[in-house]
Amino acid sequence: MNSLKSLLVGAATIRIVLGQFCEHQWSGKFAAHDVDGVPYLRARQNTPAPPLEIQPLIVSGPTSNRVNFLFLGDGYTEDEKDKFFVDALYLANNVTDGQTFVDVTPLMNFWAGFSPSAESGVGTYGTPRDTVYGLYRDGTELRGLYYDKPQVARAACQSTDTCDYPILLGNDPFYGGLGGTFTVTTASPNSGPAVLRHELGHSIIGVGEEYDGGEVYEGVNAARTPTTAPWTQWFTDASAEPKVERSVMPIQAYPWTLLNVSQAWSQKFSSAGTYATHLLQVSVSGMTASEDLRVDIDGEDVGWEINPAVGVDRYIYNIDIDEPLAPGEHEITVTLLNEELEGTAQLCNLEVLEYGSEEEFNFDPTYHGLYPTFSSSNRTTYRPTNDLCLMRSTYTGNFCSACIEGLWISLLSSVSLVDNVTQIAAADGSTNVTLELLPLAQFRQGPYPRAEGYEITWYGADEGVVLAEYANSTSALIAADTEEFGVEVRFWTEQVRVDEDDVLVFKERYAVV
Ligand SMILES: *[C@@H]1O[C@H](CO)[C@@H](O)[C@H](O)[C@H]1NC(C)=O
Ligand SMILES: *[C@@H]1O[C@H](CO)[C@@H](O)[C@H](O)[C@H]1NC(C)=O
Ligand SMILES: *[C@@H]1O[C@H](CO)[C@@H](O)[C@H](O)[C@H]1NC(C)=O
Ligand SMILES: *[C@@H]1O[C@H](CO)[C@@H](O)[C@H](O)[C@H]1NC(C)=O
Ligand SMILES: *[C@@H]1O[C@H](CO)[C@@H](O)[C@H](O)[C@H]1NC(C)=O
Ligand SMILES: *[C@@H]1O[C@H](CO)[C@@H](O)[C@H](O)[C@H]1NC(C)=O
Repeated sequence: MNSLKSLLVGAATIRIVLGQFCEHQWSGKFAAHDVDGVPYLRARQNTPAPPLEIQPLIVSGPTSNRVNFLFLGDGYTEDEKDKFFVDALYLANNVTDGQTFVDVTPLMNFWAGFSPSAESGVGTYGTPRDTVYGLYRDGTELRGLYYDKPQVARAACQSTDTCDYPILLGNDPFYGGLGGTFTVTTASPNSGPAVLRHELGHSIIGVGEEYDGGEVYEGVNAARTPTTAPWTQWFTDASAEPKVERSVMPIQAYPWTLLNVSQAWSQKFSSAGTYATHLLQVSVSGMTASEDLRVDIDGEDVGWEINPAVGVDRYIYNIDIDEPLAPGEHEITVTLLNEELEGTAQLCNLEVLEYGSEEEFNFDPTYHGLYPTFSSSNRTTYRPTNDLCLMRSTYTGNFCSACIEGLWISLLSSVSLVDNVTQIAAADGSTNVTLELLPLAQFRQGPYPRAEGYEITWYGADEGVVLAEYANSTSALIAADTEEFGVEVRFWTEQVRVDEDDVLVFKERYAVV
């Protein structure tokens, strides 16, 4: 599968996208990587590939007709080889088992490629350890995870046909990641899957963010104006659109600051006071208990409580406050209460959103309409759903309908519906032609809850002649003395409503051999 590689080669902008994170503060860092030559996968180079031991994780078909995802382990020593394969399988399962890519898994293969690192783990304070790809954090904060040896990663990817999408997997239990040519994630049980699926969403579907405070809003889930949404086919109530759901973001902040007990972090903001409810989103790391931290608005405790499953890893908290903000000035205060956490407790980012009344803002999670999204510079674009999509909500495992449709279109434009066509001559001179199709519809393994199907049409020697008796059959008998025949396969799924480029259609004529 090569077309996706070329797609990546064309993608000169490497986005640092970490889900409600603060990628814009990294543009300098990012630029440095870019100038150093963030590697396009096919660029020629002299760096030799590391020794790669590749194991299949989830394989649905031949590499030549699947989109292949290869985990490349970094910071796993020879002794940690088994751990690497376990970590990679956990991630591959997580993004295909009942969520995220479950519908399109038959178009994907997941592989894991092990190369031993001399040292275990990932680097900190900008210094990589002695590892295969040199992953490191900038400080100790749970944020970007960068690579020091892109040329080695590229060589590894080039050395195998299992690598349309390389994923650098850092042997580290905490949040960290990076988007772009190489998706970077960690073995964090909580954040690893979230980072991976979000970054793959960017790379595969070619969409930007849906969360507020990002830089790039583009693709099938983004509109610059309410009348230019590319997802009108998914509107829940087309007759009501374009109706923008009423909300506003009066404050967003990216402190990324270590907290201390001597002085609280605080910032003022103002509200028009014309909304019905509001929400405070705050992301912190390094917390151990609900008593460690207090978050106030105007001196009133908003009731922050730790998510105990996450421990000291980074987590994004959403606190709904079912009352309006009064008109005028307000202040958010974040106070560290546990002195022992100084040096690790960190305030990453926060924002407040205000919502109109229930008539003005549809909170139904599956409602597809027009929701305003606010960029890092408070520019408004529109997204299809409120919080349904993992391109907005880090901890949901699913895409909205517009993104799933985009996912199908993108993957199917890189693979063929037909895995194989075989011709077998019969004694009477006729030819038995058999198609092997992608394992979708009736060829899926196990039950599948959505409506989808194949429609198959065979044509005889004359392009216009339909061989009606073989309609919807994966094989046909072509009469003796016939020199050529044709076949058309149409795949349909309830998840694709618009297929402008006919990527759900396969049509070919063959000579009888
Ligand atoms: C995927 O990982 C998340 C944690 O990030 C976990 O809550 C969820 O249960 C996992 N799901 C599957 C299907 O493995
Ligand atoms: C964003 O713009 C809206 C509308 O102009 C304004 O009400 C809001 O306060 C702004 N938010 C920020 C964070 O600047
Ligand atoms: C304590 O935290 C506050 C708020 O983030 C900051 O302004 C101050 O510089 C910090 N003090 C020390 C000693 O780090
Ligand atoms: C196609 O089918 C033939 C006959 O079964 C087999 O020999 C060949 O390996 C198959 N090719 C692919 C790409 O699966
Ligand atoms: C072939 O299957 C499609 C559904 O995939 C169906 O709509 C069509 O009627 C079928 N054609 C015949 C001739 O049975
Ligand atoms: C073609 O051969 C296959 C495999 O032997 C068989 O299952 C199928 O029924 C044949 N097709 C026709 C139309 O006879």
